[in-house]
Amino acid sequence: MQINTLILGAGAAGMMCARYSGGSTLVIDHAKAPGEKIRISGGGRCNFTNMYADPKNYLSANPHFCKSALARYTQWDFIGLVDRHGIAWHEKTLGQLFCDGSAKQIIAMLVEELHQAGADLWLQTSVDSVERTAAGFSVRLLREGKPQTVTCRNLVLATGGKSIPKMGATSLAYDLARQFGLELTETRPALVPFTFPDGRFQPLAGTALPARLSNARTSFDEALLFTHRGLSGPAVLQLSSYWREGEEITVNLIPETPLFDLLRDQRQSEGRRDLTTELARHLPAKLVDFLKPQLSLKGRLADQSDTALAALCEALQNWRLLPSGTEGYRTAEVTLGGICTDGLSSKTMEAKSAPGLYAIGEAADVTGWLGGYNFQWAWSSGFAAGTAI
Ligand code: FDA
Repeated sequence: MQINTLILGAGAAGMMCARYSGGSTLVIDHAKAPGEKIRISGGGRCNFTNMYADPKNYLSANPHFCKSALARYTQWDFIGLVDRHGIAWHEKTLGQLFCDGSAKQIIAMLVEELHQAGADLWLQTSVDSVERTAAGFSVRLLREGKPQTVTCRNLVLATGGKSIPKMGATSLAYDLARQFGLELTETRPALVPFTFPDGRFQPLAGTALPARLSNARTSFDEALLFTHRGLSGPAVLQLSSYWREGEEITVNLIPETPLFDLLRDQRQSEGRRDLTTELARHLPAKLVDFLKPQLSLKGRLADQSDTALAALCEALQNWRLLPSGTEGYRTAEVTLGGICTDGLSSKTMEAKSAPGLYAIGEAADVTGWLGGYNFQWAWSSGFAAGTAI
């Protein structure tokens, strides 16, 4: 079979690309259904973009690479598409837009769009081999186990990253990129919970509070969640993308309050109040109980010297922790790193050294923050490649 464009991966980026690359496009995926990560995203409601999406919300060895694609297909363009399909949505927090109903509406929209554009979709289809030909590529596919060869002028790598292998994530995009001489940057699990040895936070599992998490390079003010294995919640997932093994993190459990001044004032006016009672006004009671033996919290406010209050504030607002690791690709929402953007055109996503070969979405070394930024990159990079083809 001879076609113009073969897109590997019917995820967010691949389906978006097919909508714009038009007729004579085939999208293949080894899964039984397209867009499986869209389906499970945002707790089943898909955080499909972010109102404030901007290049500063993305990590890449080349932070400028994402600018062109994000500018040419913005969050407002995607919101317009969602609106045209009559999909109701709402802002949850921090510009994060979710479907009112179900993430399945986004998948149905993308499938409808790609079919309307004249593209075909083959599921349960895997890639056996890819070879360069004079006119493009020859790809041996296994469609429901049966071999089939497709020749195409353009080949789009849209099989995503390594996150959640249970859902069918593979390294195909990286393997093919390497086959065609493209460089890869180091890949790491990102947007992923931290683990700690010895079940340290087990008694706190399920406790959540707003906090500021920092390392030497950055800081995030969002919710922190204690888990059986360690720390999770949006603030942790965000920081994980900037974290390296062996690095300490700092947790500010009461970020918005000038705690030392407040405790000193309270000591003056409410000196008979128990210290733990006072702290429970700022922190979940379970967390105060947990910290009580570690910080030797005892006595009334009036019993605390300035030095003791300062040490307490340091412990609560500058809590230094050393994660033993992360939960890895098993639960990571995304893969940091990937196909090095130096080898790609930022306008078209085409490989500079292999004309006709494109890399889009998570497979490329562009990783967004938590909050709809990764889907926006999938839409924008898919659009860039699709319109260039
Ligand atoms: P994506 O992974 O979507 O698609 C790749 C496709 O390729 C898949 O359909 C896969 O089956 C297929 N494939 C892989 N290997 C193959 C092979 N060897 N042969 C054939 N097909 C193959 N982002 C966001 O912005 N908002 C959110 O709410 C969330 N929520 C979220 C929750 C969870 C649990 C996860 C794991 C991730 C998110 N994300 C997210 C991240 C987001 O899902 C991700 O960044 C995009 O799906 C990336 O889109 P791609 O199209 O690049 O890859």
